[in-house]
Amino acid sequence: MLFSNKYGHFSDDGTEYVITNPNTPRPWANIIANPDYGFALSHTGGGFSWIFSSKISALTRWNQDMAGDNDGKLLYICEPPAKRAWTLNWNPFAHLGGTFRCTHAVGYTVLERTLYDLHARMTCFVPPQDTLEIWLVEVTNHSRSARTLFLQSYLPWLCDQWPDAHREFHRTFLETEFVPRANAIFARKRKCDVPHEGQTHPQWPYTAFHAVSHTPSAASGDTFEFLGRNRTLLNPRGLKLPNRIGTFGRYGDACASLRASLNLAPGQTASLVFLLGAAPDARRAQTLIRRYAEPARAARALATTRAHWQKLLAGFSCVTPDKRLNTLTNTWLKYQAIAGRIFGKTGYYQNSGACGFRDQLQDSQIWFPLEPARARDHLKLCCTVQHRDGSVAHWWFPGTHLKHRTNCSDDFLWLPFILIQYLKETADFALLDEHVAYDDGGAGSVLEHALRAVDRGLQRLSPRGLPLLGDCDWNDGLSSAGRKMRGESIWLAHFLFLILNEISALLQRIQREPQRLNLYQQAADALASALNAHAWDGQWFWRATTDDGAVLGSHTCREGRIFLNAQTWAVIAHSAPPQRLHAAMQAARRFLYKPYGALLLYPGYCTPDASIGYLTQYASGLRENGGVYTHAAVWAILAEVLLGNADRAYDRFAAICPIKPAKQVDNYACEPYVLPGNVDGPASPTPGRAGWTWYTGSAAWLFHVLSSYILGIRASYEGLIIDPCIPTHWPGFSATRVFRGATLHITVKNPRRVARGVSAVSVDGQPAAMPLTFIPGSTAHITVIM
Ligand code: GLC
Repeated sequence: MLFSNKYGHFSDDGTEYVITNPNTPRPWANIIANPDYGFALSHTGGGFSWIFSSKISALTRWNQDMAGDNDGKLLYICEPPAKRAWTLNWNPFAHLGGTFRCTHAVGYTVLERTLYDLHARMTCFVPPQDTLEIWLVEVTNHSRSARTLFLQSYLPWLCDQWPDAHREFHRTFLETEFVPRANAIFARKRKCDVPHEGQTHPQWPYTAFHAVSHTPSAASGDTFEFLGRNRTLLNPRGLKLPNRIGTFGRYGDACASLRASLNLAPGQTASLVFLLGAAPDARRAQTLIRRYAEPARAARALATTRAHWQKLLAGFSCVTPDKRLNTLTNTWLKYQAIAGRIFGKTGYYQNSGACGFRDQLQDSQIWFPLEPARARDHLKLCCTVQHRDGSVAHWWFPGTHLKHRTNCSDDFLWLPFILIQYLKETADFALLDEHVAYDDGGAGSVLEHALRAVDRGLQRLSPRGLPLLGDCDWNDGLSSAGRKMRGESIWLAHFLFLILNEISALLQRIQREPQRLNLYQQAADALASALNAHAWDGQWFWRATTDDGAVLGSHTCREGRIFLNAQTWAVIAHSAPPQRLHAAMQAARRFLYKPYGALLLYPGYCTPDASIGYLTQYASGLRENGGVYTHAAVWAILAEVLLGNADRAYDRFAAICPIKPAKQVDNYACEPYVLPGNVDGPASPTPGRAGWTWYTGSAAWLFHVLSSYILGIRASYEGLIIDPCIPTHWPGFSATRVFRGATLHITVKNPRRVARGVSAVSVDGQPAAMPLTFIPGSTAHITVIM
């Protein structure tokens, strides 16, 4: 048992989180998904499922209720002779108690409950290739008498956008059907909100199915039949109905409920499989049902799924003296970024379903040591939503025409930023010459797409040479400071400066575009001069100016006096002289560093300010308004590493690490195994309380910063660099990393207990010089002495 607290613990190897007490302060969830299908599941059994997009194509209804968390897909257990009914899910029958256990793991969750001498266990997972979820159920009779009981599922169909505001309208398009030969209920929706090209009233393009391995003894497709009027999930009428196939068709309020009847001798275990999924048509739905609706086949699929995830995450692992860091780096940050952000694009607190241009680009950093080809695909996908003027969709739903275009000032720049990192990882310069269509016609090479983004950045400067803020920059909540195209973003100035330098280095390397190279180099110099001439407040950098010429993030401000990103990115971009970088970070430490993370700004705004944006309307201390925004708090770790401050960097990691000491767990409230999007700041009555877990860009970033900067194993154009920046008490660490097709076993020894500095490197016993290069497919043992 690792990191045990009163609610649960990690398994010894850190790959599972076991919850033994259901009364966690908030729902502790898992996101289980492949790229096309997934579900969110809390430890008490709440949640919902989707195909294709968690937002615009949810299969089942769900009510986002963090307090009650009663809504989900239920599996009732009913024992008519004893006149009792409960659910395998802890909720909504929490009051009946019993023994509880939930194991959230990579690619599956196991829910267990023992009540009335009946142990029920359900393993829920999504196989890697197919669009369905499998509930592998086992019930064991621990009593001394034979039992007659049935399991009965219940789920409400949605088959459309979540949530639907007008259920009575939508139900008229839904159709359910009982399909006896498949032991299944099918659902279709004749009209849906998912936009498809040329279709004004498209049909939901799937057949949803819910099936069971036993021949159902009863089934229902209508909420009025199963739940009944004036009843709740605690006493549905459907459990009392005799064994018969009930109502299906076009006229009900669509749900699915399947009953499997069992007789269990004392000590006997029965295994069943329930399936929920969707396919393009009935025939393919039946193929999926045949493939999985049998306990042995489902168990094999579970083994395959676990192996698949293990392989997917294998490209980087480490053993350091800090087991928290190992647990997060080896398993959970990767899993969170991939399942939650890239595949599911959802969390329990935020269902996005869309591809955010800047968001999933940053997330795709997770693929670098794992499967860099997936980052490549994502870069090309992003090119398809770029216009020839360099602008991009702020977010969009791939495969539909649903796009949101804004006058945001930074999103397009993440394309060159991630492209450059991808090239350092892979040296795959051929990507630069691949052609991808622009969203508004014509096509260009990937290089051209990236250059158009940089050019756009340079076209949007204020008269004094600072980038215009437009609708927002990275901080979406600065939503009205720059709309009139006068306000400036100082964070963006740092970011653009970094990109200009990086793209110049790339152009030099590939010997292309000499005129642009010249232009970019001059622009970088001009930008740094403007930044340092106009945006230095004396002890730190401003954050922005507004259309009215007001300054944000200055000592002259009553609220929002200092912002984190404007300091950390000065260091990350190296856009100011060293003494300013040190001063800026010193100010950040003084005002923004808290034991639970680095605040995004301080003090939080208490007065809504329409000239700044909606961040001032959040309660002070929450999210972007003076809370810890973990995405940005990770950049503080990076900035400390870049300044060589190993202990401070490590301290900032410890501050946001979700694996808290047991006594902090109640105040922190959220899952110990995934990062939250935000943590309450000092103005909140509960500073240090986490929220918005799973769906946060901080997971991929923290993985990147821990592996590439604290452990220091990072890619450069010339090869691999190992340059750790670790706490001085560490005697060393080891890691395994895949780099350009070679598998590297790295041992770092720190006999002198230094924080930084490598004195010797050897590869397979031979002295070597960094950057290190390897033959693809080879294996090497690297020893680094600090
Ligand atoms: C949200 C957005 C992200 C943005 C951040 C800060 O997480 O998805 O794109 O950078 O908020 O406002």
